[in-house]
Amino acid sequence: MSEKRNAPLGIFDSGVGGLTVVREILKQMPGESIIYFGDTAHVPYGDRDPQELRGFAQKITNYLVTRGCKMIIIACNTSTSLAYEELTNSFSLPIIGVIEPGVNKALMTTKNLRVGVIGTAATIESRVYQRKLRAKNPDVQVYAQACPAFVPLVERGALRSAETVDIVSGCLHPFMEKEIDTLILGCTHYPFLQPVIAKVLGAKTQIIDPAQETVRCAYERLQELDLLVDTAKPVYKFVSSNNPKEFRAKGSVFLGRDLGTVEEVLL
Ligand code: DGL
Repeated sequence: MSEKRNAPLGIFDSGVGGLTVVREILKQMPGESIIYFGDTAHVPYGDRDPQELRGFAQKITNYLVTRGCKMIIIACNTSTSLAYEELTNSFSLPIIGVIEPGVNKALMTTKNLRVGVIGTAATIESRVYQRKLRAKNPDVQVYAQACPAFVPLVERGALRSAETVDIVSGCLHPFMEKEIDTLILGCTHYPFLQPVIAKVLGAKTQIIDPAQETVRCAYERLQELDLLVDTAKPVYKFVSSNNPKEFRAKGSVFLGRDLGTVEEVLL
């Protein structure tokens, strides 16, 4: 049992976005080991075909399972919205997505029941957020907007440039007259743009980064299954499907710590 408890958490995203979830794991569960897969050969995911994206999610999950992970955290809204159910049906280990936790947090936060969601085109078109929010509270008004320009900005490391401010302002403009009091960052890349997003929207809008709640859910699930780590020596491994050197350089800045040597694995 101890071997299983000390097995790593398998985490994946199209690129550096899922590091926003890793950042939260380091805060909430610093003893857990991690294998992170960034599918940089296929980033951005947001404009790809849903069937292709389900295929990537299957292959990556399978890879993380063969590397002995005890749990999968899908640190990607696009993959969660399209592949979560299929993955939970195909694999027997616990799998956590980022959408349900973000929805719950937003419903706990909103006072005026006007909630905005931003995400990739694939996530917004899947309507998963809209459906889940309204299923849990039929009185909630949901305003959803795809922001396809955001992921390339983050992947380029342009988090605060004048171009970034312009693009973010333009994309969030439709929310200005909707009087939302809560905005869900429905893409794990977006928390890296949070300072700009917060400035554009102003203090009256609460911004939800689903990572915090997702990691809390993962912790509770591990606790239920008696799978919380019982050694204090976590090991962090990072894998990318393309250009591992660039992934290390960028990821280390974003995470605020050196990722170490990044392995290259193309699935
Ligand atoms: N970070 C991912 C998400 O949460 C994928 C973004 C992309 O590659 O388009 O949706």
